[in-house]
Amino acid sequence: MDARACAVRVLVRVISSGHSLAEALPEAVQFVEDVRQRALIQELAYGTLRWYYQLDAVLKQLLQKPLKQRDADIRCLLLIGLYQLMQLAMPQRVAVNETVQATVTLNKSWARGLVNAVLRNYLRRADSLEVTGDSAVEMKYAHPAWLVKWLQADWPDNWENILSANNARPPFSLRVNQCRVTREEYLDELAARSIAATPLPQVLTGLLLKKPLPVENLPGFSEGVVSVQDGAAQLAAGLLALAPGLRVLDACAAPGGKTAHILEAEPGLSGLTALDIDGHRLRRIEENLVRLSLSAHLQQGDAGEPQGWWDGQPYDRILLDVPCSATGVIRRHPDIKLLRKPGDVATLVSRQARLLKALWPLLVPGGMLLYCTCSVLRDENIGQVGRFLEMQIDAEEVPIRASWGRVCGHGRQILPGENEMDGFYFACLRKLG
Ligand SMILES: C[S@@+](CC[C@H](N)C(=O)[O-])C[C@H]1O[C@@H](n2cnc3c(N)ncnc32)[C@H](O)[C@@H]1O
Repeated sequence: MDARACAVRVLVRVISSGHSLAEALPEAVQFVEDVRQRALIQELAYGTLRWYYQLDAVLKQLLQKPLKQRDADIRCLLLIGLYQLMQLAMPQRVAVNETVQATVTLNKSWARGLVNAVLRNYLRRADSLEVTGDSAVEMKYAHPAWLVKWLQADWPDNWENILSANNARPPFSLRVNQCRVTREEYLDELAARSIAATPLPQVLTGLLLKKPLPVENLPGFSEGVVSVQDGAAQLAAGLLALAPGLRVLDACAAPGGKTAHILEAEPGLSGLTALDIDGHRLRRIEENLVRLSLSAHLQQGDAGEPQGWWDGQPYDRILLDVPCSATGVIRRHPDIKLLRKPGDVATLVSRQARLLKALWPLLVPGGMLLYCTCSVLRDENIGQVGRFLEMQIDAEEVPIRASWGRVCGHGRQILPGENEMDGFYFACLRKLG
């Protein structure tokens, strides 16, 4: 197995065919048994996408003319070559030779000379490359120019921090299953196995591992003692003010991270419905709940059309974790930089508004809906909630008092990397009696 050629196949699926990295990578490595090879493929795929806009700006300077569409694989191989030279502490000779060699595995031996020349040209000219206009912005920040402009407009004092947090490697965060173990007990268990970890101060159930490791190596993982979940995502269950006997709807539930946390946090609920429009993703919830020995009523349906699935009994709590631009989790999913287009945001904003409006009548008077996104764009967050409150006269906002994030007109926003958490937005909306 040639790790670089395998990483090329992943990148072609993402860059040319628009697949997500979460789909393309597992498919490509499913038959790679060597753990170190798998880790290298992952590193090359994630890293090249994380720095794509910078690498692409450099590549454009080094190629005399763009490669043909049918040679998308060679273009991806060149990006991988540049990634190794620009971002990894790998000996240059190894990076160049191994990258050139991958042309053979890809059945493109004709490109040996080209790949060799471009990478060596980079090593000679690295300090004298001159890039201008939008390409200069993309090269400097390793983000698409449109997103840099949007972040500058939305976060005039924070946009540079957001961009650099997006380019950093994310921490490995865990949620302990509080029905089974306390965080302190689990930290002791990790320490006994020499796995370094620290508590996440903002969340009672959260902890950070010093070094990532395969989940199978985590004590109790397969028995449901612990789950992988970012700290910000772990805040949702606490904000729902859960209590025994409440009836809860998790309206956009898959793959079920927050569903499971709600069940762990309050085992005495009178019921929890986990709804998702995507049947395939709904099965992921089931797998997660089985591992954790938890159960919920799983329902496939469109949250925007409750007449298709609702039994007519109102809910005391609704969690609405809407589909969004995911601009708060770019550090975990660097393919978002390429896959998200500026036109997507308006479409998402209107889908979110439709879901909010359709679910509000399902809430009991005095009940609470928690609206959340993993976005940092104001239109999906404060803007969305502001417009809803103007229109919905029986809705009032419950202020979130917390030591994390920032108040921003409506709701509370965490920016990526703050308190070691992903970028997330939360707003609590209560229905008046
Ligand atoms: C941000 S993800 C939810 C993550 C989930 N809450 C968790 O913590 O694991 C958004 C989910 O909304 C689902 N979705 C999108 N449109 C929907 C709709 N109209 N009705 C129900 N679910 C929808 C997607 O399939 C996706 O699984």
